[in-house]
Amino acid sequence: MSVVPNPGNGKITVPELLRRKAPAENSQKIVCLTAYDYPTARLLDEAGVDVILVGDSVAMVALGYDSTLPVTLDEMIHHARAVRRGTKRALLVADMPFGSYHSDTAESLRNAVRFVKEASVEAVKVEGGERRLELIARLTEAEIPVMGHVGLTPQSVNALGGYRVQGKTTDSAEQLLRDARAVEAAGAFAVVLEAVPRELAAQITRELRIPTIGIGAGPDCDGQILVVHDLLGLTFDHTPKFARQYANVAALISSAVRSYCEDVRSGAFPSDSESYHSGSTAKKDEPVKISIC
Ligand code: KIV
Repeated sequence: MSVVPNPGNGKITVPELLRRKAPAENSQKIVCLTAYDYPTARLLDEAGVDVILVGDSVAMVALGYDSTLPVTLDEMIHHARAVRRGTKRALLVADMPFGSYHSDTAESLRNAVRFVKEASVEAVKVEGGERRLELIARLTEAEIPVMGHVGLTPQSVNALGGYRVQGKTTDSAEQLLRDARAVEAAGAFAVVLEAVPRELAAQITRELRIPTIGIGAGPDCDGQILVVHDLLGLTFDHTPKFARQYANVAALISSAVRSYCEDVRSGAFPSDSESYHSGSTAKKDEPVKISIC
C-alpha cells in the first residue's frame, strides 16, 4: 500500500497547524470559529476557516442556558455530528463538556473516544492547565489530539466567582504560565488563551512550541477564535469587548420574520405563483422540491 503523508488537498491537520507555529515571517495566523450545526459549519468551512470548534458555548448561545455547565456529553455529540457533516477542509475539534472529564481518567478517555467514534471529530478540547496534565497525556497517548484551554475557563465559573480577566497579578500570571507549559508538556497540539492580558499572551506565545489561539488575549497569539454568534451579532446579552461584531444577523432575522408575519396576515403570502394548480396536463403528480441542502 502506498502512503501519501500529505495529500495536498488543503485539508487542515494537526501537523499542518504545528507547522504554522514556525517562526517564519510569512507563517499564516490560524483562523478558528465555533459552530454548532450543519449550515453554519458548511458556510465557515467554505469560507476558509482553519479550525471549527464545537464549543460548549452552545449551551449559552444556542440552548439558552446562563453558563456552559448544563450541556451534556450526548448533546455535544449530537451537535458535533451535525457540524461534521458540514465540515470538509477545517480541522474539527469538540469541547469536552463539564463533568465528562472530571472523574477518573479511564472514563474521560471513554468519553473522548465517543466523540471520535460517533462524530468523527479530529481533536478534543479540555479546560485547565496543570490539573489536566495526566488527562492530556493519556488522551494523546490514545492518539486523540488535545487542544488545551487556560486563562478564563468558563467551566470554572463557580470556582472563579464570575467571568474575569485572568493573569493580571504577578502570582496569577505565573500560574497561567505554568498552566500553559503543563498543557504543552502533556502533549497538547495547541492551547486556547482566554481573557488574558496581551503582554502575557505574547510571552506565552513566544515560549511555547505549540500554537496559541487567543480569545480576548490580544493580537500576538498564533491564531484567533471567536464564538460565531458574537461575530454574527446573533446574541441578546452584553458581549465582551474582544468579540468584534461583523454583522447584525439578529436584526436581519427579526426584520425578515416581521415581514413574513405582515404578509401572511394581509394575504400577500403566498401568491398565486407560489401555489400549485389543479387540472394540469401532466399525467403524474408534480414533484415537490423540498428544502434540502
Ligand atoms: O466553548 C467555546 O466556544 C470555547 C471558545 C470560546 C474557545 O471554548
